Amino acid sequence: MNQIITIDGPAGSGKSTISRALAKKINFLYLDTGAMYRAVALDAKRRGISPDNGRRMGDLIKSMDLHFKTDEDPPKLFLGSEDISLAIRSPEMDMLASRVSAVKEVREGMSHLQRKMARGLKVVAEGRDMGTVVFPDAEHKFFLTALPRVRAERRYKERLGRGESVSKEIVESELKKRDKNDKTRSLAPLKPAEDAKIIDSTQLTPEQVVEEIMGHLKLTKS
Ligand code: DC
Repeated sequence: MNQIITIDGPAGSGKSTISRALAKKINFLYLDTGAMYRAVALDAKRRGISPDNGRRMGDLIKSMDLHFKTDEDPPKLFLGSEDISLAIRSPEMDMLASRVSAVKEVREGMSHLQRKMARGLKVVAEGRDMGTVVFPDAEHKFFLTALPRVRAERRYKERLGRGESVSKEIVESELKKRDKNDKTRSLAPLKPAEDAKIIDSTQLTPEQVVEEIMGHLKLTKS
């Protein structure tokens, strides 16, 4: 039976860490939809397709052979036979993914693919519009938030950890820009579903957030 848990929220809210840990704990598939938008951005860039060209972007998505290798932790994302897990994590892809994700044909193609990937499975689906658009009938919906300063700090540490030399100010201003793009676009903007539980992770460790989510899952079950 299909069982979906959605986790949405802005960059740096802890979605990925928490979704991955939760999926592992309850033995669900982890679906990282942000990675999928990043893959579209990467492929469009390589092929020289402008994000503003909706028709070509739509055709591109139809031609992409995108799949996760889920027996690895974190799961790896493949485009055909190429492992693109690292290539999609650059600052350039942060911004380009946000840009392509506002295009109608891209959202339609991605939503279709995400539903197909989840069909018949138990899934923790992470993104911006999982609870509002892609899986509106999901059994459990969560929306993670945290103060912008804390989210920027988390991203800053992540990027330093990847060996980038970047200033905290730049990370913070990029994060603000991406938040604005994602919240104000006309299609599937970032916002909590009406029936989502909102969890503020500003003062919580990832383990505490997972515990809180587990508590809600149990409550609803009994
Ligand atoms: O979660 P992330 O930072 O990897 O996502 C990259 C971009 O993809 C994000 O800025 C907006 C877009 N995105 C989206 O529009 N809808 C989703 N479900 C997931 C991501």
